Amino acid sequence: MRNTAIRQAFGAVVRSSTRRIGLSGKSARVSLPTNAAACAFATNTPKGDSNSTGTRSTLAIGIAAGLAGCFTLAQLGRKPLAEAPPRDNDVKDDEDPQTRLFRLDEINHHNRETKGYWVYRGDRVYDITDWVPNHPGGDVILRAVGGSVEPYWNIFTIHRNKDVYEILEQYFIGKIDPRDLVDGHAPQDKIDDPFKSDPVRDPALIVHTPKPCNAETPEQDLGPYVTPTEKFYVRNHLWVPNVTDPDSYRLTIELPDGEEASYSLEDLRTKFKQHTVTATLQCSGNRRQHMTQGSRSTNGLQWNVGAISNAEWTGVRLRDVLAASGFATSDIPDGVKHAQFVGAEAYGASIPIDKACAKNGDVLLAHTMNGAPIPRDHGYPLRALVPGTVAARSVKWLSRVILSEDESASQWQRRDYKCFGPNEGDKPDWDAAPAIQETPVQSAITSVRRLTADVLRNDGMARAYGLEEESIVLRGYAFSGGGRAIVRVDVSTDDGQSWQQAALKPHESKGSKAWSWQQWELAIPARKARGNFCVKAVDEAYNSQPEGFEPYYNFRGNLANGWHRVPVSRAD
Ligand code: HEM
Repeated sequence: MRNTAIRQAFGAVVRSSTRRIGLSGKSARVSLPTNAAACAFATNTPKGDSNSTGTRSTLAIGIAAGLAGCFTLAQLGRKPLAEAPPRDNDVKDDEDPQTRLFRLDEINHHNRETKGYWVYRGDRVYDITDWVPNHPGGDVILRAVGGSVEPYWNIFTIHRNKDVYEILEQYFIGKIDPRDLVDGHAPQDKIDDPFKSDPVRDPALIVHTPKPCNAETPEQDLGPYVTPTEKFYVRNHLWVPNVTDPDSYRLTIELPDGEEASYSLEDLRTKFKQHTVTATLQCSGNRRQHMTQGSRSTNGLQWNVGAISNAEWTGVRLRDVLAASGFATSDIPDGVKHAQFVGAEAYGASIPIDKACAKNGDVLLAHTMNGAPIPRDHGYPLRALVPGTVAARSVKWLSRVILSEDESASQWQRRDYKCFGPNEGDKPDWDAAPAIQETPVQSAITSVRRLTADVLRNDGMARAYGLEEESIVLRGYAFSGGGRAIVRVDVSTDDGQSWQQAALKPHESKGSKAWSWQQWELAIPARKARGNFCVKAVDEAYNSQPEGFEPYYNFRGNLANGWHRVPVSRAD
């Protein structure tokens, strides 16, 4: 085993990988059952998505084939299976499934520790034991065992598809006893809520969806350079994993040759140099609402200006952990193009390997946020922090890093976070567009305050701006991806007819590049304001923002960065 001694010096537990979730499928060890439905699925063409969490993945059984065996039961680390509970009805095992009935309690007794993975959908019961090792979504499927698949399929809407239903039907074993049904369905209180152990959130957050939680930072909290942790916007695709025993949490690095090294949190905290980086995270859907208003309807959460926040993150550099695991970070092998991240709840994404390994890329495996352990909503106990890159790649609850020739196969890498031409409809050629990584220059007005001459004199603004008459103070943020610093913020107080430059507020950031937003401020005499206030920023590569949204409209509403306009009337 290569470099075992080095890895062990960093506390790594080293072993040969028996699986590949590298998603290229090149080293799949177990073959798929050759069932007709599965093969039919392989030939499916992509469909557009219909909501923010549920874009249709097209990888289908092609990936399933690649992934087959990725999640064998032994590898799930389960205890030996217990016998399923005795049936409480008197039917025989060879009974016709069409007439066989099960009591709900009996189904509920099945769990990941028992023999027979039973689930139900509507009033139909399935034993999916044989499907589990072949499931393209991995072992997350086990969450549904003993209950209904519906709450999960409401989240992973890719399953609402006739091909998936056909696969499921192959595992049909009977129906729920009508005595346990209400209006033909299992009672609501018997259906599991995947979000039941989500954390309590700050009530000031502006919630777009509670389950999964998607909530933006209120405008007044976009003012401080470092966003208060409890006000940091929350973007969850799924439920929040509940890690109650951080001592048993391990991060696994999967190397291109299939070997693995795994580290405890203690290893990462004590055996590696710790780094602190100030970095802004921004959702690709930030300001999607403005694209919808300025152009046409877009598909996804209608964020305003608050799907962005800034924090100080501490952790170990990913490149250091990769190097300790035996990967040549300074001489990256030709066949390795991506670092894939896998979250504990099933989310996945990837970044280019160059970014992962760059010394000045500052990619962290972060355990600390604003000086305290990362809260559950933001990835406790460990998340990837990829500065300058769309936040969707900073995978939370990080459990595995895979070095691969291929991008992550997740829908969040291959579908959701891409842009297309304004003319392309909601069924684009997904593979034709690259996944979003670095983000374009962005800015927004977050505060509009009218100040009377008295107030101006009293709080020193008059001296700062040389103003003595009634004034309006505008504040906001500007940010560009890739570590490109903001060099200028242009503000118009007359709907873009004339411009002036805002003052860029000084700040102290940590890290190799400009990973954080730039706050700005401008005060103008109130009499000069008419129509709309507008803002546009310029980054160090002289990129600026487009005036409107139509020319670069994309149906997903990603990367909405047209001038931000706020009606002057807001100052009243
Ligand atoms: C019970 C029967 C199930 C069947 C037959 C099934 C089938 C499938 C198939 C065919 C895919 C690939 C879809 C594609 O890429 O287009 C898939 C993906 C996936 N499934 Fe399931 N599934 C089942 C249950 C579940 C459950 C209960 C969950 C969650 C608790 C789940 C979570 C996922 C996830 C996370 C993915 C991957 C999504 C992505 O990366 O884009 N599945 N499933």
